[in-house]
Amino acid sequence: MGDGKISLDLRASDRRLIGRSGLDFALWQDSYPELVTALTGPAPGYADLPDRQVSDILGWAEPLKGTCDDLVLLGIGGSALGARMLACAFVEPASRKAGHPRLHVVDNVDPRRLRHLLGELDPRRTLVNVITKSGSTAETMGSFAVVREWLREALGKDYGGRVAAVTDPDLGDLRAMATAEGFTTFDVPPDVGGRFSVLSPVGLVPAALLGIDVRELLAGARAMRSATGNPDWRKNPALALALALHQHYQAGRRIVSVMPYADGLRDFALWFAQLWAESLGKRREGTEPYGPTPQAALGVTDQHSQLQLYTDGPKDKVVWLIEVTDTGQDVRVPPQDEGYASLGYLGGRGLGELLHAELKGTMLALLRAKTPSLLLTLAVLDERLLGSLVYLCQAAVSITGKLAGVNVYDQPGVEEGKKTTYAYMGREGYSERLAEDERLLAKTDPDLVSEA
Ligand code: PA5
Repeated sequence: MGDGKISLDLRASDRRLIGRSGLDFALWQDSYPELVTALTGPAPGYADLPDRQVSDILGWAEPLKGTCDDLVLLGIGGSALGARMLACAFVEPASRKAGHPRLHVVDNVDPRRLRHLLGELDPRRTLVNVITKSGSTAETMGSFAVVREWLREALGKDYGGRVAAVTDPDLGDLRAMATAEGFTTFDVPPDVGGRFSVLSPVGLVPAALLGIDVRELLAGARAMRSATGNPDWRKNPALALALALHQHYQAGRRIVSVMPYADGLRDFALWFAQLWAESLGKRREGTEPYGPTPQAALGVTDQHSQLQLYTDGPKDKVVWLIEVTDTGQDVRVPPQDEGYASLGYLGGRGLGELLHAELKGTMLALLRAKTPSLLLTLAVLDERLLGSLVYLCQAAVSITGKLAGVNVYDQPGVEEGKKTTYAYMGREGYSERLAEDERLLAKTDPDLVSEA
């Protein structure tokens, strides 16, 4: 990117420092043109998203300012985790930006949660954003049917004015319903899969409603996109991340823990976990399956939990630490003069300083234990740099797919689960699947149950 606002420091993964559990950079070439073509020719669908004009989204969202208190987002997987990540980064928990609604993500079908939520909200002051690329996912369509009825009961036949649907431009029942009922609609580009779609209307529509600067998100993604064309890994953090995590995987470090030291990046770790797991966990022809297991963690919190496992447990992990240099105006601990040893040294120091010291604590504990880590630094957590980080991760997954020989853009295992759900819920065309599943279950041993 050239402005040094995102860097990936690989020093704590160096074999010369931590021995056999480290990376051998001597094996790394200076130039990997064949890997960056994973991004340029033919380019994956998400590579065009940063160029998208957003005047349609902003022109629709702007007049809604001040008209609603709550935004209910219905979607699951790639249709929800991106919006969650953006809200976590830029809207304080349990709060909202002035004039913008509070976000409620309904990505599960636990009836208790939805019943409670609808009981709390005023349908006249609520916007509903239903997001499903296929327009048929059971969780999203089932919850939406409930919410739609709730809106219709309160608002009558004009309820469609409170609904924005984000879906395939032509296919799926949601598209047909949106046309019939007069919902506002935005298209998911057909060549962009769920977990790669946060920079499409899937993430941008809810982000614009919440008052997040979507133009800056895209500008950051564009800046990172130009860096990802560079075959020199020292100037291309996406390439460096892919090479590092793939080499760790091949050497048996099959778990990658993502541990940001910033509350605002907590849901980034969940978004990354989906991107990594659903894209890379794949069967391979003639060789063993591939798939690093991502684990979302949070610093400092997990320093008092998972870190014990990372240092002294099996050497099957690499820890990806993330820090934000500028944490904004620091909060100072007041001077302490009552002689308490556990407080005195903190007096006058900032909590931001403490956070950075904690990160150092983790890094060095890992280094001593010879557990490899990587450190990504963001100069600040703003829309531009989060847009860059999103693009970096998507590019890294594309490159890793090329290294591992897997197609990162499909998800046959997830589709299998969807089929069984349809079968058990009686969807037309799935009766044979139901019989097949029942036969499989009948083979299990009923004695293998423990009860209290
Ligand atoms: O990344 C993916 O492709 C999945 O996680 C999907 O986003 C998820 O299954 C939801 O699909 P849809 O948007 O079609 O409802």
